Amino acid sequence: SGEKPLVGKTVLVTSGPTHEPIDPVRVLANRSSGRQGHAIAEAAARAGATVTLVTGPVAIPDPEGVAVIRVETAREMLAAVEAALPADAAVFAAAVADWRVAEDSGQKIKKGAGGPPTLALVENPDILATVAKGARRPAIVVGFAAETERVVEHAKAKLARKGADFIVANDVSEAGGAMGGEDNSVHIVGPEGVESWPSMTKRAVAAALVERIAAALGART
Ligand code: C5P
Repeated sequence: SGEKPLVGKTVLVTSGPTHEPIDPVRVLANRSSGRQGHAIAEAAARAGATVTLVTGPVAIPDPEGVAVIRVETAREMLAAVEAALPADAAVFAAAVADWRVAEDSGQKIKKGAGGPPTLALVENPDILATVAKGARRPAIVVGFAAETERVVEHAKAKLARKGADFIVANDVSEAGGAMGGEDNSVHIVGPEGVESWPSMTKRAVAAALVERIAAALGART
């Protein structure tokens, strides 16, 4: 109601990268800062929701008023997300590694006569698609899409393929750099079409997205 439209609602958010071990000292990772996901968790809490944030390794502080669960790998993230269900809404803002190393070496891989090792990769579970198509699907499921070209077109395809209600698409090729930066410029791709929001801070994107989620939840109850 009014200022706190998510009172009585539970919201699950994923954020940050995942780290996939190669050996005890090395990982496969990506450059996600977690800023956008953490801002969404904090905005949902400010809107009155009970929020669980499942985050990969990040260098930013925990958002206020949120239960934080830290994980490293995609498989740990999926398990933590499933343990946190049910939820009224879920926002998948994590940059989950698409692949992990097929066989994580128990010992540090040594440089040597054999030359550089070949790393065989296997696909990680798709957390968003698993939850969106699962029995305990939250009423509202929001995904993200970081693209460098044909952003909206790819987001529309992703909406259908993953079973999300909304895809927040951001052009990570644009100057100003969403990756790691403070600002973000996004398109909200939903069943009724596309809204392109002007560039704004990740905090502002988070607040506006939480309003959209509250409206969508309201429309369903
Ligand atoms: O397919 P792509 O990785 O571009 O989709 C991005 C969306 O899917 C994001 O919302 C991301 O959090 C989610 N995702 C996921 N698990 C994966 C890969 C992506 O939840 N393994």
